[in-house]
Amino acid sequence: MLKSYYMAKLVRGFRDIFEPQSKNFTELEMCARRIFSVYGFGELRLPTIELKELFVKSTGETTDIVQKEMYAFEDAGHRQLAVRPEGTPGVVRAYLENNFVQNAPVQKFYYIGNMFRAERPQAGRYREFEQIGAEYIGNSAPSADAEVILMLKDIVSAFGAKNYRVKINSLGCDKCRPLYRQALIDFLSKEKDTLCENCQTRLEKNPLRVLDCKIDGARFAGRVPTMQLCPECQAHFDEVQNLLRGKIDFIVDPMLVRGLDYYSRTVFEFQAGDQSQNAIAAGGRYDSLIKNMGGPATPAIGWAMGAERVIMSRGEIAPQKPKSVCVVSLEKACNQTAFNLMQTLRAAGIRTEGGLFDKNIKGQMKQADRCGAGYALILGGDELAKQVITLKDLTTGEQRQVAFDCLTDEVKKLV
Ligand code: HAM
Repeated sequence: MLKSYYMAKLVRGFRDIFEPQSKNFTELEMCARRIFSVYGFGELRLPTIELKELFVKSTGETTDIVQKEMYAFEDAGHRQLAVRPEGTPGVVRAYLENNFVQNAPVQKFYYIGNMFRAERPQAGRYREFEQIGAEYIGNSAPSADAEVILMLKDIVSAFGAKNYRVKINSLGCDKCRPLYRQALIDFLSKEKDTLCENCQTRLEKNPLRVLDCKIDGARFAGRVPTMQLCPECQAHFDEVQNLLRGKIDFIVDPMLVRGLDYYSRTVFEFQAGDQSQNAIAAGGRYDSLIKNMGGPATPAIGWAMGAERVIMSRGEIAPQKPKSVCVVSLEKACNQTAFNLMQTLRAAGIRTEGGLFDKNIKGQMKQADRCGAGYALILGGDELAKQVITLKDLTTGEQRQVAFDCLTDEVKKLV
């Protein structure tokens, strides 16, 4: 009878990331953690799954994320859930549910985790990607805006990302934005027939998004009415710019509107020139979101960077593997001692490979070569009897015997 085999297969838009590429992520995360700590941000580990309505109500019903890209499902208990497409709504929920409002309303959180969006996969755009994000809650001062923007710059610069430009804009507040919204609707309605299908729908529901459209956006640059900020929003935006000047190069771009619903006042993007998906990081103020999610009026600002895109903008660097040793056992009777020596070396912090004791010497030496070991430590019956091991330099081929007692110290001098 013909046997049918199951062939394991990766889902389109998802990836396996092996070493050395995965080390770029670790390096970026370590860089970010160090700078978060300097700025006084503490880590918040969030769940991957939330109630779907959390994102509908915060990210926004009319956004592409909620309308087209969310992995949403019903669980066995008939709850409508979603795999998180972004981190901000979860942070706000956690802030409210854990009563920070009462106890410690000013909070600086950071998070590192994978987000999920069913977008059309292409270079720099994945269905599962890593975000490193920060949310500064409870500070309405322009200095908070400047602080988070400079913190983002410090992280990407420390990591070595190059050739990015920083764009900022102000989307105003609930007082000045409705006027701008109407002015945009009036202007765009005259050109309605020329708009793409998506923008025809956006026109009524979320006209600012038309400026952000890949198809229609560019042709309106310089022609659309510009935002007239109310005096308070203008003063806030001026102050943010004053604080940033001289510390970071930035461009004020009136076409920068962002694709999520909750923003007010300052928004910003770090863009890397030659990448097809060019926002390496983005964020802004969301002074109404916490109130809209059931809390008291609480200002907040934050950002998230796409780890893959930040890594791409630097260029992936394959970090040098530290030198290692590989323990080889020539006989069954030596296996246990060889294994114990491996653990002793590891306990001393020495990168130690080995353990393929079912293979013959040729197979084990091949392993030493493959894992890039600088030295092989070979144990046979004669060595075991004398309580020594043969240390072979795999570059020069030279070898000598080292007593078990001195092995850790000897190897430490070499690797
Ligand atoms: P966002 O602009 O949707 O904002 O995403 C932030 C960053 O995540 C983007 O600039 C990009 O680098 C990365 N990113 C987004 N989608 C993908 C994808 N499909 N593949 C690879 N990278 C991607 C937010 O998510 C907001 N929560 C940011 C924020 C925090 N605003 C305030 N606080």
